[in-house]
Amino acid sequence: MSYPKYDVLYPKVRQALSQERFEHVIRAGEYAVHLAELNDYDTEKARIGGFIHDYAKERSDKDFLNEIDKKKLDPDLKNWDSSIWHGIVGAEFIRDELRIDDEELLNAVRRHTTGDVQMTTLDKIVFMADFLELGRNFSDTDVARQVTDDSLDAGVAWQLQFSLSRLVRNHRAIYPKSLLAYNHWVGGK
Ligand SMILES: [Fe+2]
Ligand SMILES: [Fe+2]
Repeated sequence: MSYPKYDVLYPKVRQALSQERFEHVIRAGEYAVHLAELNDYDTEKARIGGFIHDYAKERSDKDFLNEIDKKKLDPDLKNWDSSIWHGIVGAEFIRDELRIDDEELLNAVRRHTTGDVQMTTLDKIVFMADFLELGRNFSDTDVARQVTDDSLDAGVAWQLQFSLSRLVRNHRAIYPKSLLAYNHWVGGK
């Protein structure tokens, strides 16, 4: 289980992303450090998790669909879109192209788009850093940041409540794993 240093990953992530998204992942890495400090977690590993989480976000649908076949991933994934794929399928590109085989990091990338019932500290840090990095500015950002500073678990529940509510309002489908995560973290099931 290993992963390259931040400085080695930096140019590879830079060339994979637009300027705007690159700035988002830098800030997500910084916010992950903040959450790691509050939760006694390895700050460098947290920074890398935040930095790589959207590595695959600008890949084409065709790339993702080919990868689902090539790696024999769950065929149901094909019923979804890049908002789900860039985490679950994106982890495959990260393993192969960024040479990261640390499953804890790969799982944090996989879970950042959906949440999950079982989440490690790193999963929660990356999930929340993506949502709360300092470029984010939705209503109640400050409330969400305070809730998450006080309790990472409460932050996960806050984000799931926020994001699923928005999907419902916009008549969007909810990925089953996100619904299970919501039932667990918000509904206590
Ligand atoms: Fe993402
Ligand atoms: Fe992101």
